[in-house]
Amino acid sequence: MAEINLLKSLPKGKRSVSARKSQKTLNHIKISRKYGKEYFDGKREYGYGGYYYDGRWKSVAKDIVNLYKLKKGDKVLDIGCAKGFLVNDLIDLGIDAYGLDISEYAIQNSMKSTYGRLHIGSAEKLHFPDNSFDFVISINTIHNLTKLQCIKSLKEINRVSKKFSFVQVDSYRTLNQKKIFLEWVLTAKYHDYPQNWKKLFKLAGYKGDWYWTIIKWLKKLKYLKRKIL
Ligand SMILES: C[S@@+](CC[C@H](N)C(=O)[O-])C[C@H]1O[C@@H](n2cnc3c(N)ncnc32)[C@H](O)[C@@H]1O
Repeated sequence: MAEINLLKSLPKGKRSVSARKSQKTLNHIKISRKYGKEYFDGKREYGYGGYYYDGRWKSVAKDIVNLYKLKKGDKVLDIGCAKGFLVNDLIDLGIDAYGLDISEYAIQNSMKSTYGRLHIGSAEKLHFPDNSFDFVISINTIHNLTKLQCIKSLKEINRVSKKFSFVQVDSYRTLNQKKIFLEWVLTAKYHDYPQNWKKLFKLAGYKGDWYWTIIKWLKKLKYLKRKIL
């Protein structure tokens, strides 16, 4: 069990936090939480503003294989796989990868290479037998559930993983980061400081690794500066 920055090779995202703050309404939250077309491929105010494959997960897939010493044919599950980009890149490395997501839209619009490998379902109740996977990963997904469901999801991750697992969740280290996060967030139902997340991991008996998605003040300033110039 360790804190590991597994997504360090991804390009750093730019988010206009202040723009979302001024637009965000309860209706935006309601629509984005349907995880439909609006969330993935609609306007930025509802979510991604276009969720396309651009190869960015290839380096993450390589890091996963190296760090967890996965061999060709090992089984991996990505919970909250969306359109299956990471699943595709793991398959390319010889991994027997599968995904699960609550979004019918994402799975219906997934990559061809992942057909038959992505399941519709919810993280807190996985329809896989115990110890089915050599590695289970869930990126920016379980915080979209309530605290109780988060605990259930962590238990489920433990149950279906034979060896290793990794979760990345929304967090903040300072009051200022929390303020920025609250201005930005649409879907997350449970979010907390790292020390409280770690308590939750312990409560759930979670045995895997973890990392945090934190929107930093510096990024906001840089982005605003860029917009003004
Ligand atoms: C922020 S996206 C992350 C997608 C992908 N893991 C990534 O990092 O690009 C959150 C994903 O969680 C999925 N999701 C939300 N609630 C879920 C649930 N209860 N069970 C499984 N997936 C869920 C959404 O449909 C969406 O694909």
